[in-house]
Amino acid sequence: MTQSVMTLARYILARQDTFPDSTGEFSNLMLLIGVATKTIAWELRQAGLVEDALGLTGAINVQGEQVKKMDDYANETFLKVFMNTGLVCTMVSEELEGPEHLMQPCTPGSYSLLVDPLDGSSNVDMNINTGSIFAIQRRRFCGDDEADLLQPGREQVAAGYVLYGPSTLLVFTTGHGVHVFTLDAAIGEFVLSTEDLVIPTQGRYYSVNQGNTRRWQPWLREYLDYLQTEDKATGRPYSARYVGSLAADIHRTLLTGGIFLYPADTKNTNGKLRLLYEANPIAMILEQAQGRAITDQGETILEITPTQLH
Ligand code: AHG
Ligand code: MN
Ligand code: MN
Repeated sequence: MTQSVMTLARYILARQDTFPDSTGEFSNLMLLIGVATKTIAWELRQAGLVEDALGLTGAINVQGEQVKKMDDYANETFLKVFMNTGLVCTMVSEELEGPEHLMQPCTPGSYSLLVDPLDGSSNVDMNINTGSIFAIQRRRFCGDDEADLLQPGREQVAAGYVLYGPSTLLVFTTGHGVHVFTLDAAIGEFVLSTEDLVIPTQGRYYSVNQGNTRRWQPWLREYLDYLQTEDKATGRPYSARYVGSLAADIHRTLLTGGIFLYPADTKNTNGKLRLLYEANPIAMILEQAQGRAITDQGETILEITPTQLH
């Protein structure tokens, strides 16, 4: 039973003046993110029942990772939903080698969509939570796509993720707080569940792939040891929780406080998370919820100038 009828559409219309422009273009873009992710959520729910939804495609993506059929489906869904809408000029995706033009001509001020269409896809065959992560930028100039897209996260006009779990949640920010919408399956609409989410100051959990411990630098192993050391005053030891889907691990961290880490290690010397469509959108959400997002060198993630799309 729906308790509130503050749908995403109604919310965006009511707050249009706090969105990056008031022409309605950005509002329509957010609504289409809702359409794309509702489509993906439905496919995930059916995945065990239909042919050709689970398993690998046999392809290797630009990251050198095996592509899941659901990775492809989610990527295609974003492309189809935004193609020729005039709302998004360029799309960058984990599953696409280069930028994809979705409208011609591209004009300065138009929007780019940077997306991890299916985050945590190693979990998809096991019916474990996955997500879609997105960032929205404005084109500064047109012509050299790649140079234009390599903007520090601070320039993002909006960011968020959709979490596919027992319920489907849309969490987003336009730089005015973090808002959570829950998909009401009865009416097929995202409905506001939490406005202005703030991270608790004291956490209970740390979240990291501890299987990589021996690849970490010694100071990081010491830090984990610190989190595991008994100290009532600071709420230690922290408990470990790790899904392996960034959207899920971050959502828990947002609600309960604590820390999520994907540090550099001897295998992934720059860390594993991709800046443009994983770390930056998540960092914007975390900062807007009054948390922090830093590299293992202590830099603020949103201040980093990217050097490559992936
Ligand atoms: P993706 O499925 O989009 O490639 O992202 C996977 C990412 C992220 O979701 C998660 O935090 C991390 O990779 C998990 O990596 P490990 O399996 O190495 O822990
Ligand atoms: Mn991901
Ligand atoms: Mn992905």
